[in-house]
Amino acid sequence: MTFADVTFLPEDPAHEAEIEEINAEAFGPGRYARAAYKIREGGPHERALSFVALHDGSVIASVKMTRVAAGEGRALMLGPLAVKPAFKNRGIGKHLVKLALEAATRAGWPAVVLVGDEPYYGPLGFSRIPRGQIAMPRPVDLSRLLAVEIEPGAAAKLTGMVDHEDRVAPPAAPEAIAAPLVAAAS
Ligand SMILES: CC(C)(COP(=O)(O)OP(=O)(O)OC[C@H]1O[C@@H](n2cnc3c(N)ncnc32)[C@H](O)[C@@H]1OP(=O)(O)O)[C@@H](O)C(=O)NCCC(=O)NCCS
Repeated sequence: MTFADVTFLPEDPAHEAEIEEINAEAFGPGRYARAAYKIREGGPHERALSFVALHDGSVIASVKMTRVAAGEGRALMLGPLAVKPAFKNRGIGKHLVKLALEAATRAGWPAVVLVGDEPYYGPLGFSRIPRGQIAMPRPVDLSRLLAVEIEPGAAAKLTGMVDHEDRVAPPAAPEAIAAPLVAAAS
């Protein structure tokens, strides 16, 4: 099996059960206690900006992207990123990160953040967020808070507590959007 035998696709709801299995194997039950998990609980992830790797029709790796906000800033949070053990060290993880960053850029996102190992993500463009600039809803090793700026200056706008964007600024309910139109029409 080589990198050339792997297909990369945007995530589809049909992939969800296999993705969950991969994440369970990679992170164990402790994943529910992680700061990033707590943030992701706040709302849906961005399926169109999340990707899977397939081999022989099965999902072998996944990366998800979730909308977050902190202070004046907003960003996508990358993760979880996981590759099935049998498929590690073939460049699949790095390619998934690259696809997610390209998709975030095309969609106009100003920055991507994550909690992860700098030695892995550094060469992909991520660098440390200065200590104390942002806070997470659960304890994290602050040296693992990383960001890549798509728009210059976007990382500095992220300040204070990071949370799912829907918790910070809930999307307007359809009735709230429709109401003025109904009023105007009557
Ligand atoms: C981390 C992970 C996603 C990497 O996926 P992968 O497809 O094996 O990675 P790639 O093939 O793209 O890259 C492999 C390289 O990254 C290095 N690497 C892997 N994990 C690393 C880490 N945590 N820190 C630093 N380097 C790491 C490998 O040693 C290898 O180096 P080399 O190219 O010099 O030989 C995968 O090991 C995994 O699923 N781990 C368990 C879950 C996890 O820790 N996810 C990341 C959360 S932040």
